[in-house]
Amino acid sequence: MYDYREPWKKKIAAALSALDRETPGPTAPFQPWIISAETPPDPEMGDIGIPMFSFAKILRKAPPQIAKDAARLCAGLDVEGAHGTVEAVGPYLNIRLTRSVAAKEILEEVFKGHEKGEFAFGRPQTLENKKVMVEFSSPNTNKPLHLGHLRNDVLGESISRILAACGAEVRKVCIINDRGIHICKSMLAYSEHAQNKTPESEGVKSDHFVGEWYVCFNNELKKETEELQRSGLSKEEAEGRSSLMARAQELLRKWEAGDPETVSLWKQMNSWAINGMKETYSRTGISFDQYDFESDTWRLGKDEVLKGLERGIFYRQDDGAVAVDLSAEKLDKKILLRSDGTSIYITQDFGTAINRHERWPFDRLIYVVGSEQQYHFKVLFTLLDKLGFAWAKDLHHLSYGMVNLPEGKMKSREGTVVDADDLIDSLRDMAMEEIREKEREQEVDSPMETAEKIALGALHYYLLQVSPAKDMLFDPKESLSFTGNTGPYLQYMGARICSMLRKSDKPDAVPDATAGFPLLVSDPEWELLKALAAYPDAVSAAAAGLDPSTLTAYLYDLSKAFSRFYHDCPILNAESNELSGARLALSLAVMRVLKDALHLACIPFLEVM
Ligand code: ARG
Repeated sequence: MYDYREPWKKKIAAALSALDRETPGPTAPFQPWIISAETPPDPEMGDIGIPMFSFAKILRKAPPQIAKDAARLCAGLDVEGAHGTVEAVGPYLNIRLTRSVAAKEILEEVFKGHEKGEFAFGRPQTLENKKVMVEFSSPNTNKPLHLGHLRNDVLGESISRILAACGAEVRKVCIINDRGIHICKSMLAYSEHAQNKTPESEGVKSDHFVGEWYVCFNNELKKETEELQRSGLSKEEAEGRSSLMARAQELLRKWEAGDPETVSLWKQMNSWAINGMKETYSRTGISFDQYDFESDTWRLGKDEVLKGLERGIFYRQDDGAVAVDLSAEKLDKKILLRSDGTSIYITQDFGTAINRHERWPFDRLIYVVGSEQQYHFKVLFTLLDKLGFAWAKDLHHLSYGMVNLPEGKMKSREGTVVDADDLIDSLRDMAMEEIREKEREQEVDSPMETAEKIALGALHYYLLQVSPAKDMLFDPKESLSFTGNTGPYLQYMGARICSMLRKSDKPDAVPDATAGFPLLVSDPEWELLKALAAYPDAVSAAAAGLDPSTLTAYLYDLSKAFSRFYHDCPILNAESNELSGARLALSLAVMRVLKDALHLACIPFLEVM
C-alpha cells in the first residue's frame, strides 16, 4: 500500500539510531514502525509531524533536544523515497515533502491499473485471507421493511464492501425470521378476514399486503384487550386472556406440528412478504450471498437447547419451560423454550449460528442488529460459549441506534413506523422536483432514474454519516440538499468532473500527461493531492472500526479540497498545456477515488445530473 510517510519513518528511525550511538551506554537500533507520523494541525507547519516524546527515556534527553539532534543527523542520511526537508520545532520533527516529486508519485499510484479498468488504490489488504460473514437486514415476514431497516441495510452492505476492499472474503447473509408468533398473527387476521384477497386482486405490493393483516390483527387485539381492561383487568392480564392471542398461539402449535393447511397459508404469506422485500433490496442496491430461514434452523436450535438441558447447562422450570440462569454473568434468567414446547426467538439463533459455521467456517461473524437487541446477543454469545463452541469468541454484534424523522415530516400508512418504500418514493419525488426546477430534464438521460439515484445517494450518505451506535434523526430535506455535506453534493461533484473530461479534447490520454505532474505544487493542488493520498487509510480505518462514517467524513474532506482547487486553479484554461493536462489528470484521479468511495458507501455515481 502506498504511503508517503513510510520512507520518512525509515529515515527518522535511522537518525535516532545514529543519535543513540552518539550517546554513551548500550545501544539498540530504532525500528521504523515505532515512529508515529501525525498530520500537523495546520498545513503551514508541514506535511508530517513526528513527536519525540516517547524517545526521551531511552535517549536520556529532552524531546526538543532530540528533535534538534535528529534533524541535524537527517541531513547526512540518504533514504530512498524520502524527498523533502526536516525541521525541529519544539518536541516535533516537521517534514515538508518535495511537492513536485510527491505529486507525481501520488497520481501514479492512483492511476495504477487504470488502463485495465482496475482500481488498486485504497486497497490496504489488512484482512487478506480472512473470512468474514456479515449478517444484516434480517426482516420478519409479518410486515414490510421500514426506516430502521434502511439504516441496517446500508450499514451492512457498506461494511461488507469496505471489508472486501481490505482483502477479506466476505459473505453477506440475511436471516428471514419467517417462523413464530408474529407471522401467525398476520396469518390469523388474513384467514379470518381476507376472503381470499391477494396482492394482485388489491393491486398492492405484496409485502405491504401482508403488513396490512398484521396491522389488522393488532387493531382487533387492541379492541379486545380494551374491552377486557374495562372489566378491571390489567393490560397484561387482558392479553393473557385474549382469545385472539390464544388463537395465534394455537396456529403456532399447528405450524410446529406440520398441519398442512397452516403450512400452506404460511408459505403463501411468506412468499408474498419475501418477494416484496426482495424488490426493495434490488431497488436500493442491497444484495445477499445467502438467505437463512428461521424455519430451517429452529429445530437444530431446539435440539441444541435440549442437549444443553441434558448436560445440565440449562434447567427445566416447574411449568415445563427450559431456562438458563445467567445471574453470575449479570444477564439474569432467560427462557429458551416455552412451557408448551414451542421455541422462541433466541432458540433459532443457536441453530442458525451453528449451521453457518458448519457451512462456511468464518473467522468472524458480524451481526448488524439494532441496539435494542444488545441483551439478546450477549446471552446468545455467552450460551454458545457455554455449549462449547470455540468460535463463539468470533461473534460480534454491531449494534446501531434508532432513526427517527423530524416530527410531522412524513408519516407511514400506519402512522407509527416509516415504510421504506414510501420514504424512498417521497425522496425520489422531491429530487424529481429539483430536477424540474433546475430545468435539467432535457440534460439527464432518464429523469426518473436519475431522481431515484439522487434519492438513494441522499438517503445512504445521510444514514452512514452518523456513527452506528448513535441514535439519529433523518431529515429528508437536508439529505437532498445539493450543497454542503450531502450525498447529492458528492454526486454533483462527480458529474462536474465528468463534464469537464468530456470537454477536454483527449479524455483517454489524461493519465498519460505525466510530464506535467510535477507542476502541481500550489497550495490547493497540494492539499488535494494529500487528500487523495489519505484514501487507503480512510478505508482501513472504516474497516477496523466497522464504521462507514469514517469514510463519509473522508469524502467530505475530499470534496472540500476539490472545491478549493476547482475554484482557485483554472483547469481547461491553465497557463500551459502541460499544466492543463496535469490538472485534468488530478481531477480524473479525484473522480476515480470518489467513484470508488461512493461505491463503498452505496451511493450511485452519476455521470450527468
Ligand atoms: N428479525 C429480527 C428482528 O426483526 C432481527 C434478526 C437479527 N438476527 C439474528 N440472528 N437474531 O428483530
